[in-house]
Amino acid sequence: MLQGRKVLATREDGRYVVVQARPEDAPALEAVQRACFPDLSESELATARHFLSQQQHFPEGQLAVFDTQTGELVGSSSDFQMNVDFAHYAHPFMEETGDNLFTTHDPRGEWLYGADIGIHPRVRGQGLAKLLYGTRHDLVRRLNLRGHVAGAMPKGYGAVAERLSIEQYVGEVIREERADPVLTVQLKRGYGVWGIIPDYLEDESVRNYGVFIIWRNREYRA
Ligand SMILES: CC(C)(COP(=O)(O)OP(=O)(O)OC[C@H]1O[C@@H](n2cnc3c(N)ncnc32)[C@H](O)[C@@H]1OP(=O)(O)O)[C@@H](O)C(=O)NCCC(=O)NCCS
Repeated sequence: MLQGRKVLATREDGRYVVVQARPEDAPALEAVQRACFPDLSESELATARHFLSQQQHFPEGQLAVFDTQTGELVGSSSDFQMNVDFAHYAHPFMEETGDNLFTTHDPRGEWLYGADIGIHPRVRGQGLAKLLYGTRHDLVRRLNLRGHVAGAMPKGYGAVAERLSIEQYVGEVIREERADPVLTVQLKRGYGVWGIIPDYLEDESVRNYGVFIIWRNREYRA
């Protein structure tokens, strides 16, 4: 699966590599997606068909992580370019992503939009998301974009939603009074929180909320 592919990033010990995803990866990408988003509505899950469309619209933004020992695809991230109106950022996931097909990709867009990141549960906590975020930031710099934005899924919120408002919860995560399995990972990579998106997608674990996050490219040249 890896032969002849350009390696974009490698974990220090050489075991895991990031490459651009290809059409033949689509079934494995769907399998990782299903393992990563067990609570997400079926209509919002990315299937092989979606991954193929995403690769057609913006091949450079579609990344896959491979285990060099087993040859398995164990993670991925999906991005496209767009312009962002920061006064009106609260759009549903399916609207932003063109129903997850990336028909909304704008080659002149000044921001990279992070639609998705997933690492198979079997290999979490080993720096693979870190590897993907680094590669996404390399792409932002290479294309001289203003930065990376995303609708983060605060996966720990559902468990405390009866006691805390989403604003209180996100505030506590920002102040490091509690950790969230997704938002904390992103804050550690240098993202800041811009605002909350109600009805971002259908997922009980986040009570349908998204958190709009932003990472600025310090090397951006106007
Ligand atoms: C979020 C996710 C991609 C993280 O992947 P991962 O490979 O386990 O993350 P990493 O091992 O690269 O961890 C990066 C950093 O976050 C920290 N981290 C990872 N998981 C964490 C957790 N559950 N709670 C707190 N911190 C965590 C790590 O300690 C590491 O910190 P460091 O920079 O100080 O070393 C993974 O958990 C996942 O696929 N989740 C399900 C899908 C999902 O919700 N995607 C996000 C949609 S917005």
